[in-house]
Amino acid sequence: MPSPASLWFGGDYNPDQWPEPVWDEDMRLMRQAGVTLATVGVFSWSLLEPEEDRYTFDWLDRVLDLLHANGISACLATPTASPPPWFTLAHPDALPVTADGVRLTHGSRDTYDVCAPAYREASLRITRALAERYAHHPALALWHVHNEYGTHTYGEHAARAFRTWLRGRYGSLATLNDAWTTAFWGQRYSDWEQIHPPRATQYLPNPAHLLDFRRFLSDAMRGHYCAQRDILRAANPDVPVTTNFAFGSWVPVDPWRWAADLDLVAVDVYPDATGEAAAHQHAFAADLARSWGGGRPWLLMEQATGYLGARVRPKAPGEIIRHSLSHVARGSRGAMFFQWRASVGGAEQWHPAMLPHTGADSPVFAEVCELGALLGRLAEVQDTRVVEDAAVVWDPESWWALQSPSLPSPDLDYLAAVRQVHRVLWRQGRTVAFVSPHSPMPDLPLLVVPLLYLTSAATARFLADYAEQGGILVVTYGSGTADEHARVWPGGYPGALRDLLGVRALQHYPLDPSVDAVTVCGEDGEYWGRARRWSEELDVADAKVVARYADGPFAGRAAVTRVGRGAGQAWYVSCDLEDAGLGKVLSRAGLSGGTATPPAVEVVHRDSRDEQWVFVLNHGNGPVTGADLGLAVESREVLSGVSGAALVVPAGGVAVLRGPRRP
Ligand code: GLA
Repeated sequence: MPSPASLWFGGDYNPDQWPEPVWDEDMRLMRQAGVTLATVGVFSWSLLEPEEDRYTFDWLDRVLDLLHANGISACLATPTASPPPWFTLAHPDALPVTADGVRLTHGSRDTYDVCAPAYREASLRITRALAERYAHHPALALWHVHNEYGTHTYGEHAARAFRTWLRGRYGSLATLNDAWTTAFWGQRYSDWEQIHPPRATQYLPNPAHLLDFRRFLSDAMRGHYCAQRDILRAANPDVPVTTNFAFGSWVPVDPWRWAADLDLVAVDVYPDATGEAAAHQHAFAADLARSWGGGRPWLLMEQATGYLGARVRPKAPGEIIRHSLSHVARGSRGAMFFQWRASVGGAEQWHPAMLPHTGADSPVFAEVCELGALLGRLAEVQDTRVVEDAAVVWDPESWWALQSPSLPSPDLDYLAAVRQVHRVLWRQGRTVAFVSPHSPMPDLPLLVVPLLYLTSAATARFLADYAEQGGILVVTYGSGTADEHARVWPGGYPGALRDLLGVRALQHYPLDPSVDAVTVCGEDGEYWGRARRWSEELDVADAKVVARYADGPFAGRAAVTRVGRGAGQAWYVSCDLEDAGLGKVLSRAGLSGGTATPPAVEVVHRDSRDEQWVFVLNHGNGPVTGADLGLAVESREVLSGVSGAALVVPAGGVAVLRGPRRP
């Protein structure tokens, strides 16, 4: 996909919520802010098709023409995330059903059952109509299919589709019964029709059943996406197609399995923290988005300009710019927001926007304009590559498996564990590539595998190959525990990875975070930190002890180990060490490179054959200089023209340097 002439900057634009005279003001202010892309029509189905097969496109014609006349491109959505009330009344079976058997009703959005034939048919009808009318509109730059796929449904349509999916996966009931361990509690299936979605049941559900249903739903939604994508592509193969992944404390689909079907990965990012933690969550999501697409350019499709209840904490002045640049630095084709103009009514009337209720004379709009001006100077960064120096395995299936009620501890928090590893590396100035456990590991010097609860034999082989070939592998607690069907690997933990790591845990010893903590010290007695949720009684086979438990039930026993494997090494961290201790492990793992950055300063490098770009985001309270960061003397800051040597980035500020590539 060729790079657009400028970075994409803008947001969801809902002119359908406003009288037409407001549209002219929108255009004037969008131009003032430097907006280059507006996402239109995301929830406009009831307005575009007020009754079955009757369309009212005139308003959308005017919107697209107006955008084009003002030099703004359109990211045109298919509106299938919000079926009209007439549709759900005509097809009540196409409404989602919860696990408790409650059929939801319209009145909000996302009231669809992705498996319902009537919904599928209606989705394709509106998609075809949009494709026929707009596929060659000069404003059209990107198709945006649906919105944040993720509505679960447990009704009869889902049951039928689930059975078909299971037949494809297992072939025979005997194989399924074995994979799901249905011998337990006498749950053997003797006919496919006996299998339901994991609806509310009397006591604990089967973890393998839960896991497969999540896999199935992700595939079912992908099927819905691909059917729309095919129509849009056929109408004009030159316009890229995407959908926006939701990402937060929730991962409704498996983006590894979707990414190849998208021309461009797009994500919505709403951190639930403030300050440095929010900056880190942006960097975390951005590294994931780039990695899902295998390093291809991607797009930050949505973020907020400010406060949104508990979901998005307030932003301090300067954070709109810093957070957006963190994404661009990490490969986003731009920075988009939800939404352009704040709504006065409706469910999201208090959602922050680029143009707040207050109007254009607001600090938020001023910062938005500043961001637009800055992005306007960065178009050429699109042709450079993000420099990555460490890899982390990220696995939505392990995350789903750890949401089952049948676990060795209720305190195993997958998202927290992966975020922690990324945070420690981020603070060490490293840029992380995430990797799927289902493919060979990348050629990067360090690979961290946090809490990989599900570890298949194939994944264990990929990890062993990585170490054999010279990589430094660091595996953390809880990994290797179960296979792809959530069945425990017998013989001692960490199951599938025991031989590779040279250790064998005789028992897990979960800690109660409200009362317990165990101390870990290095072999020289140095204090490394504490663990509060998890520890293990570890026997060491051929590994070397690097750190030990200093107190608690396993005082004196190994806590962290290391073993040479081929040309590389394999480390094991048997407890949830806090950041400082994990930092010691990762720096002692012998990794060189990275940028030694002052605290709270984020530095990302991008390069091309001849050039290097350096993004410096100062999230801290004091200034940072080019000398602090070892910036090349001959590089120049893109806006100010100041040299790398003379550069001072004030507290809260940003700088983007461009210079010749260092050998
Ligand atoms: C999601 C949706 C948007 C909006 C925002 C609110 O990302 O895609 O339509 O509801 O959340 O933060």
